[in-house]
Amino acid sequence: MISRSGSTADLGGRIPQRALGRGGPMVGVLGFGAAPIGFLETDRAVVDRLVGSLVDRGANLLDTAAMYRGSEEAIGRAIRGRRGEVVVVSKCGSPPGREGLDPWCAESIRLSIERSLARLGIDELDAILLHSCSRDVLEKGEAIGAVAEARRRGLVRMVGYSGDNEAALLAALHPEVSLLEVSLNLVDQANLAEVLPAAARRGLGVLVKRPLANAAWRAPEEQQGIYRQYAQPYHERLARLAIDPARLGVAGDPGTAWPTLALRFVLSFPEVTSALVGSTRPEHLAANLRAAQEGPLPAAATAAIREAFDRARGGEVWPGLT
Ligand SMILES: NC(=O)c1ccc[n+]([C@@H]2O[C@H](COP(=O)([O-])OP(=O)(O)OC[C@H]3O[C@@H](n4cnc5c(N)ncnc54)[C@H](OP(=O)(O)O)[C@@H]3O)[C@@H](O)[C@H]2O)c1
Repeated sequence: MISRSGSTADLGGRIPQRALGRGGPMVGVLGFGAAPIGFLETDRAVVDRLVGSLVDRGANLLDTAAMYRGSEEAIGRAIRGRRGEVVVVSKCGSPPGREGLDPWCAESIRLSIERSLARLGIDELDAILLHSCSRDVLEKGEAIGAVAEARRRGLVRMVGYSGDNEAALLAALHPEVSLLEVSLNLVDQANLAEVLPAAARRGLGVLVKRPLANAAWRAPEEQQGIYRQYAQPYHERLARLAIDPARLGVAGDPGTAWPTLALRFVLSFPEVTSALVGSTRPEHLAANLRAAQEGPLPAAATAAIREAFDRARGGEVWPGLT
């Protein structure tokens, strides 16, 4: 079980919260992305500490997935005794509910959701997201029908989609969908054009994945494990943006200024409910809590980053990367 921090001195203030879509629960503008703790097999006691320090400060949204190797079990352990204080989101469809099944058939999704509940040790998920299925799968309707059925059975409260570009736009318009999880960061801005406005028109909750651009300012060899390759395209895009945190009004050493700039950029968009930062290190989460409290960037800095993105890609299409 996670412990509550003892003194107000090391707690700092509570971070701002926003409603997770129309009628949704209040969640911290900084959420916890639980992919790295799964893929990098972070020690469970460290995960307890990471989650505990966030929840203590009102950063109560935890984002995991059936495919994040051990992540659901670690989150389940970390929230024991504090279920009422957290909003738990998981994802289904990859891997399938059972080997040999089509990952997007109704039976597979039913099994995947039941397996997530068992791994998390809870009776009901606050939200389940289809984990980056294609546009074709969305159009076929069986996968969305299966998550909607789980909601009718009381296994999940909200239904949504995690992915980008045309598929995310299609999902945003679907009547069963009440939240989206999309990529948005300094070097990945494609979803700003149509997906976020469509989500806002329908009053959807919007969770942002990869908000720190996978720490793209680090050289790939400084990344851990699978993130060496995963972060490479963002690292290349960032070099082409040629931006400098100090010139955009965020001072400090690069190790602090870059994540602060990245997080505050994402929080500058009112359509965004929560930025899901992944981290395996308490000192990084403490820095992110500070940045979240500082809030959105000044409008001129946000505009300059958007211009730098458009200038860097020139005539190329830089799609949202899943
Ligand atoms: N298709 C999907 O559904 C999908 C895809 C991608 C992500 N997601 C979700 O979105 C979440 C966030 O995405 P992400 O984890 O890929 O990327 P991210 O949050 O953009 O970046 C995570 C990286 O940033 C580093 N970091 C965090 N805070 C830092 C700080 N203050 N200073 C320096 N480095 C810092 C972390 O390293 P340390 O461990 O060293 O802190 C980690 O390597 C995921 O965890 C997952 O929940 C979903």
